Amino acid sequence: MDFRLVFKLFLVCLLGEVLMAEGLACNWGTRVTHPLPPDIAVKLMKDNGIDKVKLFEVVPDVMGALGNSGIQVMVGIPNDMLASLASSVRVAEDWVTQNVSRYVSRNGVDIRYVAIGNEPFLKTYKDMFTQTIYPALENIQAALIKAGLGRQVKVTIPINADVYQSDSGMPSGGNFRPDIHGLMISIVKFLSDNGGPLTINIYPFLSLYADPHFPVDFAFFDGAAAPVVDGGVTYGNVFEANYDTLVWSLEKNGFPNLPIIVGEVGWPTDGDVNANIENARRFNQGLLNRINQGKGTPKRASPPDIYLFALIDEDAKSTEPGNFERHWGIFYYDGSIKYPLNLANNKNLTAAKGVQYLSRQWCVMRPDADPSDPNLPQSINKACTYADCTSLGYGSSCGGLDVRNNASYAFNMYFQTMNQTKGSCDQFSNLSVITSIDPSTRIRGGACRFEIMIDIGKGGKTRKPTTSSAGRMYNSIFASSFLLGLLAFVS
Ligand SMILES: *[C@@H]1O[C@H](CO)[C@@H](O)[C@H](O)[C@H]1NC(C)=O
Ligand SMILES: *[C@@H]1O[C@H](CO)[C@@H](O)[C@H](O)[C@H]1NC(C)=O
Ligand SMILES: *[C@@H]1O[C@H](CO)[C@@H](O)[C@H](O)[C@H]1NC(C)=O
Ligand SMILES: *[C@@H]1O[C@H](CO)[C@@H](O)[C@H](O)[C@H]1NC(C)=O
Ligand SMILES: *[C@@H]1O[C@H](CO)[C@@H](O)[C@H](O)[C@H]1NC(C)=O
Repeated sequence: MDFRLVFKLFLVCLLGEVLMAEGLACNWGTRVTHPLPPDIAVKLMKDNGIDKVKLFEVVPDVMGALGNSGIQVMVGIPNDMLASLASSVRVAEDWVTQNVSRYVSRNGVDIRYVAIGNEPFLKTYKDMFTQTIYPALENIQAALIKAGLGRQVKVTIPINADVYQSDSGMPSGGNFRPDIHGLMISIVKFLSDNGGPLTINIYPFLSLYADPHFPVDFAFFDGAAAPVVDGGVTYGNVFEANYDTLVWSLEKNGFPNLPIIVGEVGWPTDGDVNANIENARRFNQGLLNRINQGKGTPKRASPPDIYLFALIDEDAKSTEPGNFERHWGIFYYDGSIKYPLNLANNKNLTAAKGVQYLSRQWCVMRPDADPSDPNLPQSINKACTYADCTSLGYGSSCGGLDVRNNASYAFNMYFQTMNQTKGSCDQFSNLSVITSIDPSTRIRGGACRFEIMIDIGKGGKTRKPTTSSAGRMYNSIFASSFLLGLLAFVS
């Protein structure tokens, strides 16, 4: 082989590596009883090539761990703060000082976006936030500019896909919902004028959950569904069709090029008949393949940033949307692996390292207690009022247990949630006992996990960050001049 050809091949490989290094993005929610220590969670993201994270609120120790981590951050403002932020620029300035400027300058947190509100136009909210969202957006933008962060930090609003619809049922028929049409146009214009993207959450799982007649395969990316033909364009999955409905809606209203971020997309593993490991793996692997291939949609070729929902399970989230709401994690609550995923370059998912657990003991139903004991139902009920029993429901991972194992699961969740404290296995009318034998091993199939919680008293301290931002900058300058040199050589 000719030397130049060998060199060109080498260069192609090298560039391939650099392109692949474009990382993944995910949501990190913190509605949990036993948080994964933030430094372990940050390491978990880095080990798995996740270099962008979206937070729903500003949590000080989480921000501390993200400082100088090389991870870009989108911080969220909860809906319940919109009214006060809308009321005055001063409130917005305080928020930016406390929650953005401070972390950027003192902790080296690479904040790129502020997400204002979260799905404020959900129909279930009625019109609760329609008066405050726009002034809150204006005030935060003004505050960012005043803080000197107008270039670095962009505003956005994460919206649910129900803000647009299509009368024809096809993406090309897309337009914003009539009741908020004018408001959406004002928001989109403001974002466009200020260089902010629109953030959209797309949930094929919820399409399936809401409509039993939804064609199951159309929720996934493997082309198994009958395609939907829209004019000259063919859609093989609901994700693309949904995204393009938004692109059409924007185009129809004069904003064909507004940047779009997919703020949340994922599949839960428990809490519903369609929420299981197999479906979640099928969906997320298909999604990751698209991301790694840099695939766009028929209507917009350039791929958006896609934030996976979510990094870990959250056992204290509201179950109002459904029991699945606590099981969206790629990882379990402790950063352990639910199912294998191929990330890129044949790299497999890696579990969290260094997690400290409570003792290996469980609270279960006494072997000599009677399953027909009249106190049993109220005891289970008590346990499940304080602990997460969403895996016990119909079609869930522990849904098929007999009465005894069912009770044991509930008692154990309570015991673990209470940090295995003395007395917390004594609350169930003399029906429970502590054991050191893992109850999951006695259950066929092994899908039902009797958790042991993280010991948050231990190992929760933030370690010193390992890479300084100066070091990273040096590395990237080095990498790019190295590449430029090679390009000059070959051409
Ligand atoms: C910073 O944000 C948190 C919630 O994300 C909020 O509770 C707190 O009040 C904010 N600080 C200010 C000064 O607004
Ligand atoms: C990734 O995991 C799969 C099993 O799920 C295994 O076959 C494969 O060898 C692993 N790849 C690497 C690089 O470890
Ligand atoms: C608890 O139940 C066991 C048998 O199931 C019995 O031997 C014991 O006396 C009971 N203890 C109390 C305090 O009722
Ligand atoms: C198990 O407990 C859950 C939660 O209380 C309950 O809904 C379910 O009916 C129970 N199942 C059995 C088999 O007892
Ligand atoms: C469990 O322990 C942690 C750390 O000590 C504490 O913050 C938390 O409140 C405890 N949970 C309960 C239910 O007592």
